[in-house]
Amino acid sequence: MKAKNILIFGGSGQIGRHLIRKLTKNNYQVTAVTRNLHQKAYYLKTQANAGYLNIVEASIFNQKIIKKLVSENEIIINLIGILYENSSNTFQNLHNVFPSYISKICKDSNVNQLIHLSALGVDIAKDSNYAKSKLDGETNIKKNFEDAIILRPSVVYSVDDNFTTNFMTLLNRLPFFPLYYNGKTKFMPIHCSDLTEIIFQVVLRNIKSQTIECIGPETLSLKEILEKLLNLIDKKRILIPMPLFAAKISAAFFQLFPKPLLTIDQLNLLKYDNISSGNYKTNFDISIPSVHKFNLEVAKYCYMWKEEGQFSKKKNDL
Ligand SMILES: NC(=O)c1ccc[n+]([C@@H]2O[C@H](COP(=O)([O-])OP(=O)(O)OC[C@H]3O[C@@H](n4cnc5c(N)ncnc54)[C@H](OP(=O)(O)O)[C@@H]3O)[C@@H](O)[C@H]2O)c1
Repeated sequence: MKAKNILIFGGSGQIGRHLIRKLTKNNYQVTAVTRNLHQKAYYLKTQANAGYLNIVEASIFNQKIIKKLVSENEIIINLIGILYENSSNTFQNLHNVFPSYISKICKDSNVNQLIHLSALGVDIAKDSNYAKSKLDGETNIKKNFEDAIILRPSVVYSVDDNFTTNFMTLLNRLPFFPLYYNGKTKFMPIHCSDLTEIIFQVVLRNIKSQTIECIGPETLSLKEILEKLLNLIDKKRILIPMPLFAAKISAAFFQLFPKPLLTIDQLNLLKYDNISSGNYKTNFDISIPSVHKFNLEVAKYCYMWKEEGQFSKKKNDL
């Protein structure tokens, strides 16, 4: 059987790397577009067997190159996303303008499937520019390419995420940790391999024209997540509820940095629970359940943040 050709935008990110491994292992021929070959190719190349992955350096707004790439592939997957803006990357540009334009190209080229990664809860977080731009992108994609499939994941974790690993680093270094909104915001964290299984099944079963909420098997509040991480790295820290005005001042300060720990937009987003809405099908409803449990998975890589690393024992084991 001839391998299907898949074009991935944002393939060098956390989800992209897992996905490329999954797809190429299953005989799909993948082309990944990156902005910078020198920065990204050295680890992208190791994600697939020789011959299964082609890496192209291009600006995503170079119409000529992008049209040609789309015309050579049957399935297009868009994983491009940012969590904070800077002078060259804006939410609207990456989450709305690019998805709108790529969906038009997909329609004109008659591609079989367009899979777009949005985010859970973008329709309720009205005061977040991140959420607004993702929602605008979804709306325009559906207008331009009605068969498109939109996946809305809750927070995604794995050994190479920017979520559990950053939290464990901070919990390790700080004597106390601020709890925004009293740590009550709820999440349904999904392990990256569960999410890539969903994308893989969407490809395999040729699922179209749906919005699917991608959730993990547990609902955890921010406080519960922090407590689990503290327990896993065997540290005791004070979790202090932070008043909103103080949180806003700290976010305004942090967002001055090139890779901000927290921005005001993220603080606004954090106000809303990140759980299934009941308005769309979830991955469980389409028989692609998430199977990985938060504690068990993070336990596999949290040793890097423990006192004696890999060989540490829990204090009460000594
Ligand atoms: N991770 C999560 O918890 C989570 C939760 C909900 C939704 N999502 C969504 O899922 C998607 C993938 O997430 P991820 O965690 O894998 O993201 P990631 O690790 O941050 O990777 C993002 C990708 O976006 C590309 N990118 C960033 N700025 C770009 C620009 N100006 N031009 C072209 N490409 C650009 C990067 O590609 P190059 O640097 O190679 O060009 C990178 O591969 C995103 O849409 C994200 O919003 C993620």
